[in-house]
Amino acid sequence: MDVNAWLITENTFEPRLQREKETIFSIGNGYIGTRGSFEEGYPGDQPASLVNGLFDDAPVAHTELANTPNWIDLQLLLGGERFGLDRGKVISYSRQLDMKSSLLTRKVHWQHPDGGEIDLTFERFASLADDHLLALRCRIRSIDYSGELEIQAGLPGYMENEGLLHWNWRDQGQIDEQAAFLNLATRATHISLLEAFSLTVRSVAARTYDFWNSRMNPVIVARTSLAPGQEVVAEKLVTVFTGRDGNDLQGIAASRLNQARDDGFETLREAHASAWDADWRACNIEIEGDEIADQALRYSLHSLLSSAPRRDIKASIPAKSLAGFGYHGHVFWDTDIFALPFFTFTRPHIARNLLMYRYHTLPGAREKARENGYEGAMYAWESAADGSEATPRWVPAADTGELIRIWPGDIEHHITADVAFAVIQYWRVSADDDFMRSFGAEMVLDTARFWGTRAKWNENLARYDINDVIGPDENHEHVDNNAYTNGMARSNLQSGLDVLAWLETADPETARRLTRSLDLSPSRLSHWRDVIDKIYRGYDPQTRLFEQFEGYFKLKPTPAKDFEPRTRSLQTILGVKGCQEYQLIKQPDVLMLFYLLGGTDPLYSAGNLRTNWEYYTPLTDLTYGSSLGPGTQAGLAARMNDIESACHYFLQAAAVDLENLRGNTADGLHAATAGGAWQAVILGMAGVVLDAGRVDVHPRLPETWKRLKFRLQVHGQPHDFDLSPSTPVHPLAGHGQVSGAIFDLDGVLTDTSEMHYQAWQRLADEEGIPFDRAGNEALRGVPRRESLLLMLKGRKVSEEQLQEMMERKNRYYVELIKHITPDDLLPGALDFLKELRSLGVPAAIASASRNAPTVIDLLGLRPWVTAVVDGNSVRHQKPAPDLFLLAADLIALPPRECVVFEDAKAGVEAALSGDIWAVGIGPSERVGMAHVVVPGLDGIHWQNLVQTLEASTALTARQDG
Ligand code: BGC
Ligand code: BGC
Repeated sequence: MDVNAWLITENTFEPRLQREKETIFSIGNGYIGTRGSFEEGYPGDQPASLVNGLFDDAPVAHTELANTPNWIDLQLLLGGERFGLDRGKVISYSRQLDMKSSLLTRKVHWQHPDGGEIDLTFERFASLADDHLLALRCRIRSIDYSGELEIQAGLPGYMENEGLLHWNWRDQGQIDEQAAFLNLATRATHISLLEAFSLTVRSVAARTYDFWNSRMNPVIVARTSLAPGQEVVAEKLVTVFTGRDGNDLQGIAASRLNQARDDGFETLREAHASAWDADWRACNIEIEGDEIADQALRYSLHSLLSSAPRRDIKASIPAKSLAGFGYHGHVFWDTDIFALPFFTFTRPHIARNLLMYRYHTLPGAREKARENGYEGAMYAWESAADGSEATPRWVPAADTGELIRIWPGDIEHHITADVAFAVIQYWRVSADDDFMRSFGAEMVLDTARFWGTRAKWNENLARYDINDVIGPDENHEHVDNNAYTNGMARSNLQSGLDVLAWLETADPETARRLTRSLDLSPSRLSHWRDVIDKIYRGYDPQTRLFEQFEGYFKLKPTPAKDFEPRTRSLQTILGVKGCQEYQLIKQPDVLMLFYLLGGTDPLYSAGNLRTNWEYYTPLTDLTYGSSLGPGTQAGLAARMNDIESACHYFLQAAAVDLENLRGNTADGLHAATAGGAWQAVILGMAGVVLDAGRVDVHPRLPETWKRLKFRLQVHGQPHDFDLSPSTPVHPLAGHGQVSGAIFDLDGVLTDTSEMHYQAWQRLADEEGIPFDRAGNEALRGVPRRESLLLMLKGRKVSEEQLQEMMERKNRYYVELIKHITPDDLLPGALDFLKELRSLGVPAAIASASRNAPTVIDLLGLRPWVTAVVDGNSVRHQKPAPDLFLLAADLIALPPRECVVFEDAKAGVEAALSGDIWAVGIGPSERVGMAHVVVPGLDGIHWQNLVQTLEASTALTARQDG
């Protein structure tokens, strides 16, 4: 396909790819979605038009979106010969989706089997200006064909869902010479569907209309003739209403059709295009410099916009959007966690509708909780019309056909906390208090109530457990204490407490009502607090790893390597049962916790993220496991400043359908993956952060991205961003952005460099190595081993000798530092620490030196700092940021709210690569990359310094770091 910002184009038709292309070229307006099949059909095609929320019962899947009449049907007969790509001769062909106005166009230059040539142009859209309106136009221009032309516009109602027919016929008939209707009803749910349609043909020659009243497929037929150079234009307009929209469907559908005919295709298309224009003005993202990324992201947004209901508050976005039969139109956490943020941040009214769907399905969620012996609301893993559980219990295995028990409907419980998370996120971004008061609070509180009863007290271990679940990683079933589930449940309980506290002031009446109806007694609330305090989190402070679930670390290592290269998921290869034995995971699970809750709690710190990332990434089936994985990885990689990985994973998400990366695009568009791509760019690469209604960016753009332009809606206000690799970072809110201090020891608070120097010099002299003060400069801030290697300048020594020399140098140094007293503090150091204390600014000392704790004690610094970390505490030394990230953690602040004071180049680099502010102490030649450079701490005052930092536009340094 060509890469054009707004156009998705194919220039050849390959029957082998027809099913996936039908998905890719689908169109929709959130009310109805239509696959990109051909108007005249093609052998083996799979036309489908799915109306959101229109479910009917289905075996195994419980319920599914019923495939509605094939409104695009248009048959052309030229001299009695039917047009089709499988007959005559196709001289040229192209199909194009113009995302700007969501118009699908197909051009065919076709040669009649008897020789005449015609040019055909088909255009169609599902109106975004009017949910119920569908339109198609076909221009037939003769090059050298002359003869009869018959145009049959039907409304075949016998459409099936892969073999299952959902319809009972009710009625049909002619409205007038050029219009007819069909009335059906779903078989089990008895939802009425009424479609009315018209055919208008413009031709130089005379034309006649006819009506074929064939049952289940009313057809309007137009007959005319065509001569070389002449053009005939056929317009088919369709209106669709269901019993979910109201009564007297026939009356509404017919009158709406009449209005539409008065307007005509062109006027309707303009209204549709301007509705899309409004959406794009609010949502479009421009990535200049990388046209593949730009187009793929836009296509992702087009998928999301095409499938989100605009007016219906009892429907949502199906996992495979409205473009295919995959997952039967069911709604998963895909909507709340993956797709929703895009709407929350750009089209909040749509986000609100999507959350209203969850509100309307509360009764189903309550019923599910009750059936399972819990209180509160427990959302369905797969949700459809009414929120009752719709996950199939058994599904045939892809290869063997053997029935496999599907457990998520029973035990994938995290969905409940995911919904609450989405409510809170929407509220924070939109400040829609009215929604929160009227609907959101009830969802957050009733889901909290669920977790309050779901977590069980473990007497032996004095903690709360959530046992027997499936986490986001569905390769492991029936696990205990899944870190993600427990972490999200904990956050859901905390949100419950927070929202109730807010409500008590904001709307005491609603607070009283909910307290009564949901029985939010003081003892229940104190139980929630207890669960928050004592729930098992699976975190090991030694390794800084979260264990995905209890026993996970004991599983066998992933066998992934044995199966590369592959084109299937490891779950398919090893079987659901087989996977359980290994540490192999289907999609980010622990990392998902960091993605959603990063920075909200010391355990979800940037330092811990890195440790867990390194552990879990290689265990995750990111190529063929869940398509939800790559977006999350991309967003996290960007947060960690790993731009290369961020780009790689981002494209895996954004191009999932355009490139059919998972091999299952035929089943529908991956809505969650599209939302994940948006999040990777906006919350990852652009680094959008919200601070009480203020939006800030911390861009980490790939070098090729010359510009990243987008608009967000926050607290009801539009915010435009136009970023380039040299955009200065807007620091977070003026106050509070820089709120903690981390000090290197040597050269900043004291000067043991003289003692280091003397110790090195003594060693050098003993070994006969040329060394002096100048040579010592290069060792500043460099760990012992590396220092020694530098000093040896390539001289060959055995590892044993190396160790011995390091020990010897250290012995000399330890002897020297014994004499340190507070008098050895550098000028201004103690005053500055005292000032920090008086201002309540937490301070830590982070020194690569393993002797740091001793030196700090001798200097009398302990009382003035909250935390001390030394080289023993981390694996990677400066210039890796680990030491500083750990220090930030220990003072419970996100790294970007801390400032590091460093006198060494490697230390400044370490700070920058950890996205931490840096103050360089010493000459610019050494520490010039820091945001601010000062000669020493003497005379430095915190508030002035913070102001200087925040005014500094040392972004390039921050990014390059
Ligand atoms: C998915 C589950 C889903 C099940 C049945 C599996 O492929 O991973 O989340 O519930 O299919 O639809
Ligand atoms: C994933 C789930 C997802 C579902 C629907 C499954 O394969 O594991 O996380 O919700 O598909 O997209």
